[in-house]
Amino acid sequence: MKPILKVENLSKDFVKPLDLVAKALNKLGQNYREEIVHAVDDVSFSIFKGEIVGVVGESGCGKSTLGRMIAGILPPTSGHLKFELDESKTSKIPPALLTQMIFQDPFSSLNPRKRVIDIITEAPIYHKLIDQAEKQTYAEDMLQRVGLDPDTLQRYPHQFSGGQRQRVGIARALAVSPDFLVCDESIAALDVSIQAQIINLFVDLKDKFDLTYLFISHDIGVVEHIADRVIVMYLGRIVETAPIQDFLKNPNHPYTNALLAGVPRLEIGKRKYEPIKGEIPSPLDPPPGCHFHPRCRFAEERCRVEKPILIEIAPAHFSACHLNDRA
Ligand SMILES: Nc1ncnc2c1ncn2[C@@H]1O[C@H](COP(=O)(O)OP(=O)(O)OP(=O)(O)O)[C@@H](O)[C@H]1O
Ligand code: SF4
Ligand SMILES: [Mg+2]
Repeated sequence: MKPILKVENLSKDFVKPLDLVAKALNKLGQNYREEIVHAVDDVSFSIFKGEIVGVVGESGCGKSTLGRMIAGILPPTSGHLKFELDESKTSKIPPALLTQMIFQDPFSSLNPRKRVIDIITEAPIYHKLIDQAEKQTYAEDMLQRVGLDPDTLQRYPHQFSGGQRQRVGIARALAVSPDFLVCDESIAALDVSIQAQIINLFVDLKDKFDLTYLFISHDIGVVEHIADRVIVMYLGRIVETAPIQDFLKNPNHPYTNALLAGVPRLEIGKRKYEPIKGEIPSPLDPPPGCHFHPRCRFAEERCRVEKPILIEIAPAHFSACHLNDRA
Protein backbone atom coordinates (compact mmCIF):
# COMPACT_ATOMS: atom_id res chain seq x y z
CA MET A 1 0.00 0.00 0.00
CA LYS A 2 1.21 3.50 -0.87
CA PRO A 3 1.03 6.27 1.70
CA ILE A 4 -1.24 9.17 0.77
CA LEU A 5 0.76 11.31 3.23
CA LYS A 6 4.30 11.07 4.57
CA VAL A 7 5.14 13.30 7.50
CA GLU A 8 8.88 13.64 7.98
CA ASN A 9 10.54 15.25 11.02
CA LEU A 10 7.77 17.81 11.29
CA SER A 11 8.12 20.49 13.97
CA LYS A 12 6.30 23.65 14.92
CA ASP A 13 7.63 26.20 17.36
CA PHE A 14 5.63 29.15 18.61
CA VAL A 15 7.51 32.12 19.95
CA LYS A 16 5.90 33.66 23.01
CA PRO A 17 6.66 37.39 22.74
CA LEU A 18 7.91 39.30 25.77
CA ASP A 19 5.24 41.18 27.70
CA LEU A 20 5.54 44.89 28.39
CA VAL A 21 6.97 44.38 31.87
CA ALA A 22 9.75 42.10 30.61
CA LYS A 23 10.52 44.58 27.79
CA ALA A 24 10.73 47.42 30.29
CA LEU A 25 12.93 45.39 32.64
CA ASN A 26 15.23 44.51 29.73
CA LYS A 27 15.75 48.22 29.16
CA LEU A 28 16.90 48.41 32.77
CA GLY A 29 19.51 45.77 32.15
CA GLN A 30 17.57 42.54 32.77
CA ASN A 31 17.87 39.73 30.26
CA TYR A 32 14.39 38.32 29.63
CA ARG A 33 14.21 36.27 26.43
CA GLU A 34 11.28 35.29 24.25
CA GLU A 35 10.10 31.82 25.14
CA ILE A 36 9.61 29.08 22.58
CA VAL A 37 6.85 26.47 22.71
CA HIS A 38 7.81 23.30 20.86
CA ALA A 39 4.19 22.50 20.02
CA VAL A 40 5.12 19.70 17.62
CA ASP A 41 8.58 18.24 18.00
CA ASP A 42 10.15 16.15 15.24
CA VAL A 43 7.19 14.01 14.32
CA SER A 44 7.31 11.38 11.53
CA PHE A 45 4.61 8.97 10.33
CA SER A 46 2.70 7.89 7.23
CA ILE A 47 -0.99 7.63 6.46
CA PHE A 48 -2.29 5.19 3.87
CA LYS A 49 -5.14 5.78 1.48
CA GLY A 50 -8.51 5.03 3.03
CA GLU A 51 -7.17 4.92 6.58
CA ILE A 52 -8.70 6.70 9.56
CA VAL A 53 -5.87 7.65 11.88
CA GLY A 54 -6.88 8.84 15.35
CA VAL A 55 -4.73 11.30 17.30
CA VAL A 56 -5.07 11.34 21.10
CA GLY A 57 -3.27 12.98 24.01
CA GLU A 58 -3.93 15.48 26.77
CA SER A 59 -4.73 19.11 26.15
CA GLY A 60 -1.78 21.08 24.77
CA CYS A 61 0.15 18.08 23.43
CA GLY A 62 0.10 19.46 19.88
CA LYS A 63 -2.80 17.63 18.22
CA SER A 64 -4.40 20.70 16.65
CA THR A 65 -1.05 22.16 15.64
CA LEU A 66 -0.22 18.90 13.84
CA GLY A 67 -3.67 18.85 12.21
CA ARG A 68 -3.39 22.47 11.07
CA MET A 69 0.00 21.86 9.48
CA ILE A 70 -1.35 18.82 7.64
CA ALA A 71 -4.39 20.83 6.49
CA GLY A 72 -2.02 23.48 5.11
CA ILE A 73 -3.26 26.32 7.29
CA LEU A 74 -0.13 26.55 9.45
CA PRO A 75 3.40 26.49 8.03
CA PRO A 76 5.81 24.06 9.75
CA THR A 77 8.96 25.43 11.41
CA SER A 78 10.89 22.50 9.96
CA GLY A 79 10.32 19.11 8.37
CA HIS A 80 8.23 17.99 5.42
CA LEU A 81 4.76 16.90 4.42
CA LYS A 82 4.57 14.81 1.26
CA PHE A 83 1.13 14.17 -0.18
CA GLU A 84 0.51 11.57 -2.89
CA LEU A 85 -2.83 12.83 -4.13
CA ASP A 86 -5.05 11.52 -6.86
CA GLU A 87 -3.48 12.63 -10.18
CA SER A 88 -6.76 12.67 -12.04
CA LYS A 89 -7.87 15.28 -9.50
CA THR A 90 -4.70 17.36 -9.07
CA SER A 91 -4.92 18.32 -12.75
CA LYS A 92 -8.34 19.92 -12.10
CA ILE A 93 -8.36 20.89 -8.44
CA PRO A 94 -5.67 23.00 -6.70
CA PRO A 95 -3.75 20.61 -4.40
CA ALA A 96 -4.34 22.91 -1.43
CA LEU A 97 -8.07 22.13 -1.65
CA LEU A 98 -7.56 18.37 -1.51
CA THR A 99 -6.98 18.51 2.24
CA GLN A 100 -9.83 20.04 4.19
CA MET A 101 -10.30 20.61 7.90
CA ILE A 102 -13.50 20.07 9.88
CA PHE A 103 -13.48 22.08 13.11
CA GLN A 104 -14.99 21.54 16.53
CA ASP A 105 -17.46 24.37 16.51
CA PRO A 106 -19.57 24.35 13.39
CA PHE A 107 -21.12 27.66 14.40
CA SER A 108 -18.01 29.78 14.53
CA SER A 109 -16.57 28.14 11.41
CA LEU A 110 -19.63 29.04 9.27
CA ASN A 111 -20.23 32.63 8.19
CA PRO A 112 -23.49 33.60 10.00
CA ARG A 113 -24.40 36.15 7.31
CA LYS A 114 -24.28 33.70 4.41
CA ARG A 115 -26.97 31.34 3.22
CA VAL A 116 -26.10 27.65 3.11
CA ILE A 117 -26.16 27.63 -0.70
CA ASP A 118 -23.40 30.25 -0.74
CA ILE A 119 -21.42 28.67 2.09
CA ILE A 120 -21.26 25.43 0.13
CA THR A 121 -20.63 26.81 -3.35
CA GLU A 122 -18.30 29.74 -2.61
CA ALA A 123 -15.04 27.78 -2.91
CA PRO A 124 -16.05 25.59 -5.88
CA ILE A 125 -17.18 28.69 -7.82
CA TYR A 126 -14.09 30.70 -6.89
CA HIS A 127 -11.83 27.84 -8.03
CA LYS A 128 -13.98 27.33 -11.16
CA LEU A 129 -14.91 23.74 -10.28
CA ILE A 130 -18.52 24.70 -11.09
CA ASP A 131 -20.17 27.71 -12.73
CA GLN A 132 -23.06 29.88 -11.54
CA ALA A 133 -25.60 27.89 -13.56
CA GLU A 134 -24.72 24.71 -11.66
CA LYS A 135 -24.79 26.34 -8.23
CA GLN A 136 -28.28 25.26 -7.14
CA THR A 137 -28.06 21.60 -8.17
CA TYR A 138 -24.50 21.29 -6.88
CA ALA A 139 -25.44 22.61 -3.43
CA GLU A 140 -28.55 20.38 -3.34
CA ASP A 141 -26.42 17.37 -4.15
CA MET A 142 -23.91 18.24 -1.39
CA LEU A 143 -26.69 18.63 1.18
CA GLN A 144 -28.13 15.26 0.22
CA ARG A 145 -24.71 13.66 0.59
CA VAL A 146 -24.54 14.75 4.21
CA GLY A 147 -28.13 13.82 5.03
CA LEU A 148 -29.73 17.27 4.95
CA ASP A 149 -32.91 18.29 3.18
CA PRO A 150 -32.05 20.20 -0.03
CA ASP A 151 -34.98 22.50 0.77
CA THR A 152 -32.82 24.10 3.49
CA LEU A 153 -30.48 25.70 0.94
CA GLN A 154 -31.67 29.24 1.54
CA ARG A 155 -31.34 29.07 5.33
CA TYR A 156 -28.67 30.71 7.49
CA PRO A 157 -26.45 28.70 9.89
CA HIS A 158 -28.38 29.80 13.01
CA GLN A 159 -31.51 28.14 11.62
CA PHE A 160 -29.93 24.69 12.04
CA SER A 161 -29.27 22.52 15.10
CA GLY A 162 -25.66 21.82 16.17
CA GLY A 163 -25.58 18.45 14.41
CA GLN A 164 -27.09 19.92 11.24
CA ARG A 165 -24.58 22.76 11.27
CA GLN A 166 -21.76 20.28 11.47
CA ARG A 167 -23.30 18.53 8.45
CA VAL A 168 -23.26 21.87 6.61
CA GLY A 169 -19.56 22.23 7.54
CA ILE A 170 -18.90 18.76 6.15
CA ALA A 171 -20.85 19.57 2.95
CA ARG A 172 -18.74 22.70 2.51
CA ALA A 173 -15.56 20.64 2.84
CA LEU A 174 -16.79 17.95 0.45
CA ALA A 175 -17.78 20.55 -2.13
CA VAL A 176 -14.16 20.90 -3.28
CA SER A 177 -13.74 17.10 -3.71
CA PRO A 178 -11.01 16.59 -1.09
CA ASP A 179 -8.97 13.39 -0.74
CA PHE A 180 -8.08 13.97 2.88
CA LEU A 181 -10.02 15.34 5.86
CA VAL A 182 -8.48 16.56 9.11
CA CYS A 183 -11.21 16.38 11.75
CA ASP A 184 -10.22 18.34 14.88
CA GLU A 185 -12.58 17.47 17.75
CA SER A 186 -15.28 17.61 15.08
CA ILE A 187 -17.94 16.00 17.21
CA ALA A 188 -16.84 17.17 20.67
CA ALA A 189 -19.36 20.03 20.84
CA LEU A 190 -22.36 17.84 19.93
CA ASP A 191 -24.81 15.90 22.09
CA VAL A 192 -23.80 12.27 22.58
CA SER A 193 -26.69 10.91 20.48
CA ILE A 194 -25.78 13.27 17.63
CA GLN A 195 -22.09 12.38 17.92
CA ALA A 196 -22.85 8.79 16.89
CA GLN A 197 -24.78 10.02 13.84
CA ILE A 198 -21.93 12.25 12.70
CA ILE A 199 -19.38 9.46 13.22
CA ASN A 200 -21.52 7.20 11.07
CA LEU A 201 -21.69 9.95 8.45
CA PHE A 202 -17.88 10.23 8.40
CA VAL A 203 -17.53 6.46 7.92
CA ASP A 204 -20.19 6.44 5.22
CA LEU A 205 -18.56 9.34 3.34
CA LYS A 206 -15.14 7.71 3.55
CA ASP A 207 -16.37 4.71 1.60
CA LYS A 208 -18.47 6.70 -0.86
CA PHE A 209 -15.85 9.33 -1.67
CA ASP A 210 -12.59 7.47 -1.15
CA LEU A 211 -11.52 9.70 1.73
CA THR A 212 -8.67 9.38 4.21
CA TYR A 213 -8.91 10.94 7.69
CA LEU A 214 -6.75 12.31 10.45
CA PHE A 215 -9.21 12.21 13.34
CA ILE A 216 -8.24 14.22 16.42
CA SER A 217 -10.26 13.51 19.55
CA HIS A 218 -10.12 13.75 23.33
CA ASP A 219 -12.49 10.85 23.51
CA ILE A 220 -10.91 7.41 23.31
CA GLY A 221 -14.37 5.89 22.88
CA VAL A 222 -14.79 7.88 19.67
CA VAL A 223 -11.34 6.94 18.40
CA GLU A 224 -11.95 3.30 19.26
CA HIS A 225 -15.13 3.44 17.25
CA ILE A 226 -13.79 5.09 14.13
CA ALA A 227 -10.00 4.74 13.82
CA ASP A 228 -7.96 2.04 12.07
CA ARG A 229 -4.83 3.26 13.79
CA VAL A 230 -4.01 5.55 16.71
CA ILE A 231 -1.23 8.04 17.34
CA VAL A 232 -0.60 9.04 20.97
CA MET A 233 1.10 12.40 21.50
CA TYR A 234 2.78 13.76 24.61
CA LEU A 235 4.27 17.28 24.76
CA GLY A 236 4.67 17.53 21.01
CA ARG A 237 6.09 14.08 20.39
CA ILE A 238 4.58 10.79 19.25
CA VAL A 239 5.05 8.30 22.06
CA GLU A 240 3.12 5.37 20.58
CA THR A 241 1.28 4.43 17.40
CA ALA A 242 -0.49 1.16 16.68
CA PRO A 243 -3.40 -0.45 14.82
CA ILE A 244 -6.51 0.10 16.94
CA GLN A 245 -7.03 -3.51 18.08
CA ASP A 246 -3.42 -3.92 19.13
CA PHE A 247 -3.51 -0.47 20.77
CA LEU A 248 -6.46 -1.44 22.94
CA LYS A 249 -5.26 -4.99 23.70
CA ASN A 250 -1.55 -4.35 24.16
CA PRO A 251 -0.89 -0.70 24.97
CA ASN A 252 2.85 -0.45 25.49
CA HIS A 253 3.91 3.03 26.56
CA PRO A 254 3.45 3.94 30.24
CA TYR A 255 1.72 7.14 29.12
CA THR A 256 -0.77 5.24 26.96
CA ASN A 257 -1.39 2.87 29.85
CA ALA A 258 -2.01 5.82 32.13
CA LEU A 259 -4.47 7.29 29.61
CA LEU A 260 -6.34 4.04 29.37
CA ALA A 261 -5.93 2.95 32.99
CA GLY A 262 -9.07 1.96 34.77
CA VAL A 263 -11.25 3.30 32.00
CA PRO A 264 -14.23 1.00 31.71
CA ARG A 265 -15.58 0.16 28.28
CA LEU A 266 -18.11 2.88 27.85
CA GLU A 267 -20.18 4.34 25.13
CA ILE A 268 -19.03 7.07 22.81
CA GLY A 269 -18.79 10.40 24.54
CA LYS A 270 -18.11 9.00 27.98
CA ARG A 271 -14.75 7.36 27.66
CA LYS A 272 -12.61 10.33 28.48
CA TYR A 273 -9.03 10.08 29.61
CA GLU A 274 -8.40 9.27 33.23
CA PRO A 275 -6.64 12.05 35.09
CA ILE A 276 -2.98 11.15 35.27
CA LYS A 277 -0.93 11.70 38.39
CA GLY A 278 1.24 14.80 38.29
CA GLU A 279 0.80 17.96 36.28
CA ILE A 280 1.52 18.18 32.57
CA PRO A 281 4.92 19.92 32.44
CA SER A 282 5.07 23.27 30.67
CA PRO A 283 5.71 22.93 26.94
CA LEU A 284 7.88 26.06 27.33
CA ASP A 285 10.34 24.03 29.32
CA PRO A 286 9.75 20.32 28.72
CA PRO A 287 11.67 17.84 30.87
CA PRO A 288 14.86 16.49 29.29
CA GLY A 289 15.20 12.87 28.17
CA CYS A 290 11.78 11.23 28.08
CA HIS A 291 9.25 14.07 28.46
CA PHE A 292 7.04 11.75 30.51
CA HIS A 293 9.64 10.88 33.16
CA PRO A 294 8.39 13.21 35.96
CA ARG A 295 5.03 11.42 35.85
CA CYS A 296 6.19 7.90 35.02
CA ARG A 297 6.34 5.32 37.79
CA PHE A 298 8.92 3.29 35.84
CA ALA A 299 11.31 6.20 35.28
CA GLU A 300 14.98 5.48 35.86
CA GLU A 301 18.16 7.53 35.50
CA ARG A 302 18.46 6.96 31.74
CA CYS A 303 14.93 8.33 31.22
CA ARG A 304 15.98 11.67 32.68
CA VAL A 305 18.75 12.21 30.15
CA GLU A 306 18.14 10.18 26.99
CA LYS A 307 15.26 10.74 24.58
CA PRO A 308 13.64 7.39 23.71
CA ILE A 309 13.01 6.82 20.02
CA LEU A 310 10.06 5.03 18.43
CA ILE A 311 10.85 1.37 17.82
CA GLU A 312 8.63 -1.28 16.25
CA ILE A 313 7.57 -3.67 18.99
CA ALA A 314 4.95 -5.56 16.94
CA PRO A 315 3.80 -5.21 13.31
CA ALA A 316 3.00 -1.51 12.71
CA HIS A 317 3.11 -0.94 16.48
CA PHE A 318 5.74 1.61 17.55
CA SER A 319 6.52 2.85 21.04
CA ALA A 320 9.13 5.26 22.41
CA CYS A 321 10.08 3.92 25.84
CA HIS A 322 13.44 2.72 27.17
CA LEU A 323 11.73 -0.21 28.88
CA ASN A 324 11.41 -1.86 25.47
CA ASP A 325 15.22 -2.17 25.22
CA ARG A 326 15.09 -4.77 27.97
CA ALA A 327 12.75 -7.09 26.08
N1 LIG B 1 -0.90 30.25 17.87
C1 LIG B 1 -0.22 29.86 18.94
N2 LIG B 1 0.67 30.70 19.54
C2 LIG B 1 1.38 30.30 20.62
N3 LIG B 1 1.29 29.07 21.18
C3 LIG B 1 0.41 28.20 20.62
C4 LIG B 1 -0.38 28.56 19.48
N4 LIG B 1 -1.16 27.48 19.14
C5 LIG B 1 -0.85 26.52 20.03
N5 LIG B 1 0.09 26.94 20.92
C6 LIG B 1 0.69 26.16 22.01
O1 LIG B 1 1.18 24.97 21.44
C7 LIG B 1 0.92 23.85 22.30
C8 LIG B 1 0.10 22.83 21.53
O2 LIG B 1 -1.20 23.35 21.30
P1 LIG B 1 -2.35 22.58 20.51
O3 LIG B 1 -3.49 23.49 20.38
O4 LIG B 1 -1.78 22.01 19.25
O5 LIG B 1 -2.68 21.37 21.53
P2 LIG B 1 -3.91 20.35 21.49
O6 LIG B 1 -3.32 18.99 21.71
O7 LIG B 1 -4.72 20.54 20.26
O8 LIG B 1 -4.72 20.77 22.79
P3 LIG B 1 -6.32 20.68 23.03
O9 LIG B 1 -6.58 19.23 23.35
O10 LIG B 1 -6.53 21.55 24.23
O11 LIG B 1 -7.02 21.15 21.82
C9 LIG B 1 0.23 24.43 23.51
O12 LIG B 1 1.20 24.64 24.50
C10 LIG B 1 -0.35 25.73 23.04
O13 LIG B 1 -0.43 26.66 24.09
S1 SF4 C 1 11.31 6.08 28.77
FE1 SF4 C 1 11.34 5.92 31.01
S2 SF4 C 1 10.19 7.69 31.77
FE2 SF4 C 1 9.72 7.44 29.60
S3 SF4 C 1 7.90 6.23 29.58
FE3 SF4 C 1 9.58 4.78 29.38
S4 SF4 C 1 10.07 4.18 31.49
FE4 SF4 C 1 8.75 5.99 31.63
MG1 LIG D 1 -6.70 21.07 19.95
